[in-house]
Amino acid sequence: MESDIVRLASIVSSSTATLDRAMQEHGLRMPSFDAESPVQLTLLSEDMATARDTAINACMELLDHLKGPLTCLLPLYNGSSLQVISRYSIASHVPLSGEISYHDLSTACGVHVHDLKQVVRYAIVFHRLFAEQRKGYVSHSAGSRLIAQDPIVRAGMEQFDEFYGSCARAVDSMDQFQGHEPNETGFSLSHNTSEGLFEYLRSRPLKAKQFAEGIKFYKGPIPAYSPDLLVQGYPFHSLPEGAVVVDMGGSDGHVGRTIAQANPHVQVIVQDLPGVVEEAEAAGKARPGIQFQAHDIFTPQPVVAEVYLLRWILQDWPDDYVVRILRQLVSVLRKGARVVVNESLCPDSGSLPLATERYIRHMDLMMYAINKSRLRDEEEWQQLFHEADARFGTIRCWTPPGSALAIIEAVWEGE
Ligand SMILES: C[S@@+](CC[C@H](N)C(=O)[O-])C[C@H]1O[C@@H](n2cnc3c(N)ncnc32)[C@H](O)[C@@H]1O
Repeated sequence: MESDIVRLASIVSSSTATLDRAMQEHGLRMPSFDAESPVQLTLLSEDMATARDTAINACMELLDHLKGPLTCLLPLYNGSSLQVISRYSIASHVPLSGEISYHDLSTACGVHVHDLKQVVRYAIVFHRLFAEQRKGYVSHSAGSRLIAQDPIVRAGMEQFDEFYGSCARAVDSMDQFQGHEPNETGFSLSHNTSEGLFEYLRSRPLKAKQFAEGIKFYKGPIPAYSPDLLVQGYPFHSLPEGAVVVDMGGSDGHVGRTIAQANPHVQVIVQDLPGVVEEAEAAGKARPGIQFQAHDIFTPQPVVAEVYLLRWILQDWPDDYVVRILRQLVSVLRKGARVVVNESLCPDSGSLPLATERYIRHMDLMMYAINKSRLRDEEEWQQLFHEADARFGTIRCWTPPGSALAIIEAVWEGE
């Protein structure tokens, strides 16, 4: 009988062959880690995406099988290398072509040369950032070059630096505090504050701006988080002419703009905290069909709309807070109005391909570390909506193809 490792290896072999054929047919280049390489695979069809996902999942399974249960216990991952690279702008100090010695790089970025070597050499093997083609000299890889050149990627890294300490302190927050309060978290302990994340950002506009930029980073490395999948997967197109879609906590409107572009017949109102809205307006993010409005989700909703979208919002809040947020909508809901939540559903263990489940579990535990909150499954969503108001009726959940985020829809049954 064929062993698991042989079965997995043959899945890797056949799916990579399918992908390779399609790439050759379309004249596409396979990404590598060389500085000049494309940084992402171009997937032109669903078959290509399936072949890539199948290969990734089989590789992950194969690797874990080969390592075995004991080695899987060893957390070989350490985010401090990424933190140093971000905080000391190391990628920006490496020339875009050519190389720089560790000594000169150390002087340029202000990191002791020994520490720098540790950090960069870790990043070379774990994150495929930088290269050391000649001993003692650093050059770019495709990834580090991207950090040097793309401000959204830099913002994503800065956000990682901001949040990574939360994971290390999550267990302390569990020991120290009994309940689920958003200001009693790994994030609060690691920042030595009694504020929750969003209170903290309110009084720090630069960090709030970086947070808004950082969120946009994820759709690059994790296409399954792309807002395009929400736009394709939700029937905005069937809303009546002039229908209003309120994107609550919509940040700088990057999701709202995607909805409006694909659906010029709807009006999108992007709501967020006053500082976030001011920043978005000052940066010229308003467009025809999109307006911004300052609104706190813990106060009564002022706009009557057909759709209230909450993308990556409720996962930030513990259950009691979610119920409070939903209740703030009740006074403006008209029969048939829809509340649409877009975030990952908490899956049953083993029910999804390994890579997808890993994204989702990663997000779930990050939400615990940062906000003492969590992802919910369908039953838990039903309970929360019902607790907020029984007139929310029965919810419907579905996941658009290729998406790691589900759509959870409640239709208002009251008058
Ligand atoms: C994780 S981000 C999600 C942003 C956006 N919806 C997206 O999908 O990229 C959470 C957003 O909620 C906003 N937010 C946090 N607390 C809020 C509040 N009390 N009222 C309104 N917005 C809030 C934040 O400013 C931030 O833009």
